[in-house]
Amino acid sequence: MIIFDKVSKKFFNDTYGVKKVSFLIEDGELVLITGPTGSGKTTLMRLITKEYQPDEGRILFNDTYLEKIKPRLLPDHRRKIGVIFQDYRLLPESNVWENIALPLLIAGKSQKNIEERVTDLLKLVHLENKANLFLKELSGGEAQRVSIARALATAPAVIFADEPTGNLDQETTLSIIRLLKKINELGTTVLLATHDVVVLDDLKDTRKIELKDGELISDSHKKKIKSKPKKLKDEKKKLNLKKIKRKIKE
Ligand SMILES: Nc1ncnc2c1ncn2[C@@H]1O[C@H](COP(=O)(O)OP(=O)(O)OP(=O)(O)O)[C@@H](O)[C@H]1O
Ligand SMILES: [Mg+2]
Repeated sequence: MIIFDKVSKKFFNDTYGVKKVSFLIEDGELVLITGPTGSGKTTLMRLITKEYQPDEGRILFNDTYLEKIKPRLLPDHRRKIGVIFQDYRLLPESNVWENIALPLLIAGKSQKNIEERVTDLLKLVHLENKANLFLKELSGGEAQRVSIARALATAPAVIFADEPTGNLDQETTLSIIRLLKKINELGTTVLLATHDVVVLDDLKDTRKIELKDGELISDSHKKKIKSKPKKLKDEKKKLNLKKIKRKIKE
């Protein structure tokens, strides 16, 4: 579950990336994040990955408030979020197989584990026959499928796709959307930031969070933020317990 509770991020020049944004996304949802250029879509992603810290408000990811994550545990947090970019961000000197294997190598997985996982991922994105190719030998759609496989490598709970179809033609765009839908159906929460009309039209009935100038202006299937998440209640209990113990000592 992801909760944004009145989250604002202001940059040094006083522009807001996002401003008092609140929403709740449940596990397994597919959600479109839309809005014109500069509306705050990428800022939202960077807040979730903790590249940015909010100036106001709190973000809950699963059962953890992001401000509580210690720097040494940041890589663990980031492995829970697979990010897909418009420009693929693949390593040009590495082939398809190596690009997909990289996050697993970094996570210290065994050779056997890596081989099995990369084989499965190549099947999922239908690139079994392209494992030895390099970025310059791939079409845009294929490159994006490699980047999707890489994002899925560590089996993240959430995929954040930031304008994944920005460089693709209509037909390839629709094939990438089909793939993201399939990944969602297999259980991963998918957040899809886009202002591509082909995507918006194809996913008409999907939940849509709309941003403008950093503010959330509509949420088509708004979920009520429950009174207080469990974790917060537990924290409060702990605090009370401390108070009581202090009182007893006094
Ligand atoms: N690192 C930064 N420093 C200063 N301002 C920033 C920074 N990152 C984003 N902004 C500003 O925050 C606002 C939101 O930017 P953001 O990149 O989140 O928009 P976006 O919706 O992703 O746009 P696009 O569709 O063009 O990718 C913009 O006004 C932008 O100029
Ligand atoms: Mg952006």
